[in-house]
Amino acid sequence: MSNLLCSSIGKKLLMSLSGLFLVTFLVIHLTVNSLLLFDESGDLFNAAAHFMATNPLIRIMEPLLGLGFFVHILYGSLLTAQNNKARGNDKYDSGNKTKDVMWASKNMWVLGLTIFAFLVVHVWQFWVKMRLTGDPLLDHTHIDVAGVETQVENSYALVNATFSQLWVVILYVLGSLGLALHLTHGFWSAFQSLGASNNIWRKRLTVVGVIFAWVVGIGFSVIAIAQFLFFQS
Ligand code: HEM
Repeated sequence: MSNLLCSSIGKKLLMSLSGLFLVTFLVIHLTVNSLLLFDESGDLFNAAAHFMATNPLIRIMEPLLGLGFFVHILYGSLLTAQNNKARGNDKYDSGNKTKDVMWASKNMWVLGLTIFAFLVVHVWQFWVKMRLTGDPLLDHTHIDVAGVETQVENSYALVNATFSQLWVVILYVLGSLGLALHLTHGFWSAFQSLGASNNIWRKRLTVVGVIFAWVVGIGFSVIAIAQFLFFQS
């Protein structure tokens, strides 16, 4: 087993599985955050955040998400180091294909690093305050949950105040666009590592991957910009 995890194929398998797991998280995260676009009162978003904070399944998934990020970053770095070393040995090799592969791999790591830097700030701004330290802005509010008035954390107030600063909005747009570029390559590449590599599926997955990547990148950017421009009181 440990031999498999150390082999190139094992590393690529872990990269693709962790990557697809993170893709699932992104779909849920973007869906919940898109509620910010449709409700100025913030009640919808607060209800969703309350559900996420109290649902046992989501609570179990949170450490797994952390593990997913850890595995993805670790094996991404290992594979990049391995590719760079192979490039060193093959430096007399020529041909566009190798250069393209080398460029993509290098680019993926730099983009991954950019996303990681964004995530450190992002997790500090929200997750740490909502789960660990608290924040006066989170002081409780009341919403209607299935006809019952329920006291919940005011997550919306924290999000809204955070996006009142222009530098934050710029950071989120850059982080989201970096994420989109990372996904344009990462999405189909994950399926290719899992064996979906015949010509027809490769083309289809490339198209699906590019569409998905830009929906995610533009989606998060639009939420941040809309909060700044249209939702400040
Ligand atoms: C407009 C853009 C975004 C908004 C408003 C937003 C909002 C939030 C909020 C409120 C939390 C805390 C959730 C909680 O602890 O209950 C959170 C956590 C998190 N976000 Fe975002 N987010 C945005 C973009 C992103 C992007 C682009 C990524 C990925 C690259 C991302 C990854 C994460 C992660 C990993 C966590 C911690 C795990 C979790 O709490 O579920 N977010 N985000």
